[in-house]
Amino acid sequence: MTAIVGQNAPTKHSELLAWVEEVAALTKPDAVRWCDGSDAEWKEFTDLLVDRGVATRLNDEAKPNSFYFRSDPTDVARVEDQTFICTETEDGAGPTNNWSDPAEMKQTMGKLYDGCMKGRTMFVVPFCMGPIDADDPKFGVELTDSEYVVISMKIMTRMGKDALAAMGTDKPFVKCLHSVGHPIADGEQDVAWPCNDTKYISHFPETREIWSYGSGYGGNALLGKKCYALRIASAMAHDEGWLAEHMLILELTSPENKKYVVCAAFPSACGKTNLAMLEPTIPGWTVKTLGDDIAWMRFGEDGRLYAVNPENGFFGVAPGTGYHTNPNAMRTIEKGNSIFTNVALTDHGDVWWEEMTSTKPKHLTDWHGKSWTPDNGEKAAHPNSRFTTPIDQCPILSEDFNNPKGVPVDAILFGGRRASTIPLVAQSRDWNHGAFMGATCSSETTAAATGAVGVVRRDPMAMLPFIGYNANDYLQHWVNIGEKGGDKLPAIFFVNWFRKSDQGKFLWPGFGENSRVLEWVINRLEGKAEAVDTPAGAIPAEGSLNVDGLSLTEEDLAAATRFNAEEWKQEVPLIEEWFDKLGDVPQALRDELDTLKQNLS
Ligand code: GDP
Ligand code: PGA
Ligand code: MN
Ligand code: MN
Repeated sequence: MTAIVGQNAPTKHSELLAWVEEVAALTKPDAVRWCDGSDAEWKEFTDLLVDRGVATRLNDEAKPNSFYFRSDPTDVARVEDQTFICTETEDGAGPTNNWSDPAEMKQTMGKLYDGCMKGRTMFVVPFCMGPIDADDPKFGVELTDSEYVVISMKIMTRMGKDALAAMGTDKPFVKCLHSVGHPIADGEQDVAWPCNDTKYISHFPETREIWSYGSGYGGNALLGKKCYALRIASAMAHDEGWLAEHMLILELTSPENKKYVVCAAFPSACGKTNLAMLEPTIPGWTVKTLGDDIAWMRFGEDGRLYAVNPENGFFGVAPGTGYHTNPNAMRTIEKGNSIFTNVALTDHGDVWWEEMTSTKPKHLTDWHGKSWTPDNGEKAAHPNSRFTTPIDQCPILSEDFNNPKGVPVDAILFGGRRASTIPLVAQSRDWNHGAFMGATCSSETTAAATGAVGVVRRDPMAMLPFIGYNANDYLQHWVNIGEKGGDKLPAIFFVNWFRKSDQGKFLWPGFGENSRVLEWVINRLEGKAEAVDTPAGAIPAEGSLNVDGLSLTEEDLAAATRFNAEEWKQEVPLIEEWFDKLGDVPQALRDELDTLKQNLS
């Protein structure tokens, strides 16, 4: 094995070489392959996957150079129960994460990794999160036995020889080890989607390592994304004085031709990808996209917070995506060069999912590979089926996407999926009130993680599954950023697109119409919109939210935007319970809770 590693290695990075050798000795692959991220490599891998019957090449006229995968039906989402933060002390992982002692976890997983790549190739995938020409580029190398992971990493990160070259001989990098946990014995046939019932997604923030085993699903297996850019990066950000957040980044231009940047944190499957590339329904406003899932925010020389998207692609929820909801996502994927996982396949070799078109196709092959007709009562695509597509294909990508300094943020939105209580939009009084809004954010669970769907849970800053250290320290870090940034910080708002009527219908039309809320947010920054103070924050005064041309009854508009004291009185004990669960909540946020209680009585 040593010989193979040494001979073919296109680097002199000694730490990397030693690690590759060490992992190969443990996992015992048949071969080691250094990936260069070239188009030739993509072609070789996708051809191979198609030949093996693992992937289906889509109809070239509909989706050129695009590929369709069906996963094992048990491997369709992030596994939060099996996700661990392994810090020296249990307190390091805090009250919200699963904790394990790092040495114990390495022993447990070491046994699983022993020989786990037999019959497979181990791929060495160098990558950089964020522009490679950043002042402090954040490198990673993923070792994986999955071709699906390699091609997905090519879309989602700056992957291959440029990243490797920039790492030089000694630049630090995050060690990301991944195996599907499915060795192939001599003479045995591989399965279409190898994985293992035993899964571990383990993070070692103190040593900046990630060990993932048993799953091929994006959030568990593409280790640059949630594992690095959120969990490990949040720990880095805490140490280095910046923020790694579960946020989209968009650039908004007003009719006066003034530019603004808005970042928004919503839990998984709660509207980030849609808002990131929305098409405003109000005249004069345009939106450009910088990112749809992750924002790294650092202080610039002028003391403002600047946001960078560390990713290079979109890993978007497919169902619900269509020309009527997210036309820019449709335009992005139609350029091809994309991967589709667990959607349905049409008889013409194209993909389909629920609500992509208003009329359902007459016949499909569903995500289980079974024949499907509209009357069979089942969903053709899995609710967490995904498209993986290059961000530079997005027709409204911002010119600043590759700017290593990022863009200065004007407003931060927190949001969730709440059928009641939370108004369409509310502005915080100040940073700490905004941090309180974020800290107490709650949302109904979705199909993006395994487990029950539709259960309301607290999800601080939409980061509950992604904080790589103690949640109380994370909240204190937000308070500290507030002290450091002062009045140059973005204004903070809370939004809820998902409030429902008594009949269970969404009150607010959402999607492109959310531009009206963005306009109100900007008008607040400019002192041009009236608001009414409530204990939940400042909500639009009557007539201040632009509803021109919107077909919405007065009653529904009022119900969507209203602050209801009775509902909030019921919310307080839930927040208290949440703070009790957290335990060591920053005093500044406890003070905010006291203020809320006072204002309600
Ligand atoms: P993300 O996972 O946070 O990026 O969320 P997505 O933008 O992918 O959206 C997740 C689901 O919520 C999709 O099925 C969308 O169609 C739906 N969705 C997104 N925005 C809205 C909205 O404004 N209103 C409603 N009702 N649904 C939305
Ligand atoms: P999402 O990203 O936020 O777009 O759903 C994937 C995830 O959070 O699992
Ligand atoms: Mn996400
Ligand atoms: Mn998304």
